[in-house]
Amino acid sequence: MGLFKGLVFTLALLLIMAVVTGIGVNWGTQATHPLPPSTVVRMITDNGIQKVKLFDADSSILNALSNSGVQVMVGIPNDMLSTLANSVQAAENWVATNVSTHVSSNGVDIRYVAVGNEPFLETYNGSYIGLILPALQNIQAALIKAGLGAQVNVTVPFNADVYQSSTNIPSGGDFRSDIKDTMLQIVQFLSNNGNPFTANIYPFISLYDNPNFPIDYAFFDNYSSPINDSGRIYKNVFDANHDTLVWALQKNGYGNVSIIVGEIGWPTDGDKNANLNYSQRFNQEFVSRVVAGTGTPMRPGPVDAYLFSLIDEDAKSIQPGNFERHWGLFYFDGQPKYQLNLGTTNSNRLIAAKGVQYLPQKWCVLFPSASVDDPQVAPSVSYACANADCTSLGYETSCGNLDARGNISYAFNEYYQINNQLDSACKFPNLSVVTTQDPSVGTCKFIIMIKTDTASAVGKTSGSLRNPVGLMFVLMSALLYSIT
Ligand SMILES: *[C@@H]1O[C@H](CO)[C@@H](O)[C@H](O)[C@H]1NC(C)=O
Ligand SMILES: *[C@@H]1O[C@H](CO)[C@@H](O)[C@H](O)[C@H]1NC(C)=O
Ligand SMILES: *[C@@H]1O[C@H](CO)[C@@H](O)[C@H](O)[C@H]1NC(C)=O
Ligand SMILES: *[C@@H]1O[C@H](CO)[C@@H](O)[C@H](O)[C@H]1NC(C)=O
Ligand SMILES: *[C@@H]1O[C@H](CO)[C@@H](O)[C@H](O)[C@H]1NC(C)=O
Ligand SMILES: *[C@@H]1O[C@H](CO)[C@@H](O)[C@H](O)[C@H]1NC(C)=O
Ligand SMILES: *[C@@H]1O[C@H](CO)[C@@H](O)[C@H](O)[C@H]1NC(C)=O
Ligand SMILES: *[C@@H]1O[C@H](CO)[C@@H](O)[C@H](O)[C@H]1NC(C)=O
Ligand SMILES: *[C@@H]1O[C@H](CO)[C@@H](O)[C@H](O)[C@H]1NC(C)=O
Repeated sequence: MGLFKGLVFTLALLLIMAVVTGIGVNWGTQATHPLPPSTVVRMITDNGIQKVKLFDADSSILNALSNSGVQVMVGIPNDMLSTLANSVQAAENWVATNVSTHVSSNGVDIRYVAVGNEPFLETYNGSYIGLILPALQNIQAALIKAGLGAQVNVTVPFNADVYQSSTNIPSGGDFRSDIKDTMLQIVQFLSNNGNPFTANIYPFISLYDNPNFPIDYAFFDNYSSPINDSGRIYKNVFDANHDTLVWALQKNGYGNVSIIVGEIGWPTDGDKNANLNYSQRFNQEFVSRVVAGTGTPMRPGPVDAYLFSLIDEDAKSIQPGNFERHWGLFYFDGQPKYQLNLGTTNSNRLIAAKGVQYLPQKWCVLFPSASVDDPQVAPSVSYACANADCTSLGYETSCGNLDARGNISYAFNEYYQINNQLDSACKFPNLSVVTTQDPSVGTCKFIIMIKTDTASAVGKTSGSLRNPVGLMFVLMSALLYSIT
C-alpha cells in the first residue's frame, strides 16, 4: 500500500486503539435535580468520552444513549440480587427489558452488565455473599439465551477490601480469608467465561482513613520512599493496590483474568483533603497514565478504568463522609470544576454541559437585622441542613471560612434552592429574606438551582437523604460554639 494509505491506515488503527483504551466515567443519578439525560449524553460525547458505567438500567438514560456510540455498562442494584439469584425467569425478564430491547431496537452499545455494586461492603453485613454467584450465573445464561453472549459480558464491581496483603506489599496479595471461598468461586466463573474482574480503588479513602498515610503516595510519581517488591517498584498506592489484586488472582490460578477499575477518583469538597487542587492533580495524573498505556508493574499496558464520577450528586448518603456528594468532574449543573486533559478532544479541557436552564438569580439569606442569638436560629439551620446539602460547610471545606451569619445564610440558601426557590422555603421565622445580590464569597459558592421536573426532584430528595444526623450534629455544635 502507498505511503499515504499506510499513514491513513496507521492513523485509523491508532484511533481504534484510543477508543479501546480511553477513559470511562461513572454516571450516578442520586441528585435532587439531575440534568436531563440528553444533556448529559451530549456532555459525554462533547468530551470525547467513549465508555460510561451506570448503576442501574434506567430506560430514560438508555434511550438518551441510543446511537450515541458510547459503550455502556449497565448495573443491577443490590436490592434486586435476591430475586435474580433465585429465579431464572426473573433474570431473563431483566435481560429482556434492560438489555436486549436497548441493544436490538434502540441502538445502545451495551458491553457489560454489572451484577450488584460493592456487594461485600461491611455495611451490608454479609447479606449478599451467597447471592452474587447464582445471580451472575442466571444473568449470564439469560444473556446467552438472548443471543448476546458474545457481545455483553458480566462482572461484579467489588470494593477493594475483598483482597488484602498479609505482608503489606503487593506480592502478599490474596482474597480476604472470611470470603475467600466465595471469591474463588466467583473468580472461577468469571475466568471460565472470559469475564473481567472489577475493583473500585480509592487512594483518597486510604488517606481519609489513616492520618499517617503519606500524602504523596496517594498521588503518582512524587513519593520519596517507594516500595521495592522484589524489583518491582511502587511509587503510588494505586499501583500497589491494583497489583495486590493481580497477585491474589495469580496465586489462586487465575492470573489471566482481565481487570477493570470500576471506580477511581478524588472528591473536591467536604474534607480537608478533598479540594480542587488535589482532585485535579490526582485525576490528571491518573488519566495521563491511562492515555499513555503505562499500566502497573505487574500488568504493564492499557488500564481499563472508569472515573468516579461525572457529576456531583447532592442526594447521596453521607455515611462514608461529607465528601461523598462531591466526586464529580463537573458540578451539579454540568460546569467543569477545573481543567482536565482527558486526551480525547482537541481542546485539552473539560467541556461544559450545553443548554442548562437555571432558576432566577436570587438567594435566601439571614435577614440583616436578625440576631445569630435568636433561639429560632439553631432549629432553623438544623432543619435546613437535614433537608438540603450542607456538606460544603465544615473544617477546611469550600465554605469553611464563613462567619456565623454566613453559615446560617448558606444553610438557608441550600434549602431554598433545593426547593426550587419556593417562597415558602425562605420563611424561617423572622430570620430569612430573599436577595438578588450574590452572597458567594471566595471559594464558597451560594448556588442557584437548575430547572428540572420538580415532581421527580422532590420525590428523590425525601428518599435519598439517608443520614443527615452526623452532619447536623457537627454543624450545630460549631454554630453553638461560635454563639456562646
Ligand atoms: C430493569 O432495570 C430497572 C433498573 O434496574 C429495574 O427497576 C427494572 O425492574 C428492570 N426490569 C426488569 C424486568 O427486571
Ligand atoms: C449483622 O448480622 C449479624 C449476624 O447475622 C446480626 O446479629 C446483626 O444484627 C446484623 N447487623 C445489621 C446491621 O444488620
Ligand atoms: C467477553 O465475553 C466473551 C465471550 O464470553 C469473551 O470471549 C471475551 O473475552 C470477554 N471480553 C472481556 C473484555 O471480558
Ligand atoms: C513533590 O515532592 C517535592 C519534595 O517532596 C515537593 O516539593 C513538591 O511540591 C511535590 N510536588 C507536588 C506536585 O506535590
Ligand atoms: C529492589 O530489590 C531488588 C532485590 O529484590 C534489588 O535487586 C534492586 O536493586 C532493588 N531496587 C531498588 C531500586 O532499590
Ligand atoms: C494465560 O495467557 C497466556 C498468554 O495469552 C497463555 O500462554 C497461558 O496459557 C494462559 N494461562 C492460562 C492458565 O490460561
Ligand atoms: C491550589 O493551588 C494554587 C496554585 O497552584 C494555590 O494558589 C491554591 O491556594 C491551592 N488551593 C488549595 C485549596 O490548595
Ligand atoms: C461556620 O460553620 C462551620 C461548619 O460548621 C464551622 O466550622 C465554623 O466554625 C462556623 N463559623 C462560625 C463563625 O460560626
Ligand atoms: C417576628 O417578630 C415580630 C416582631 O418582632 C414578633 O411579633 C413575632 O412574634 C415574631 N414571629 C416569630 C414567628 O417569631
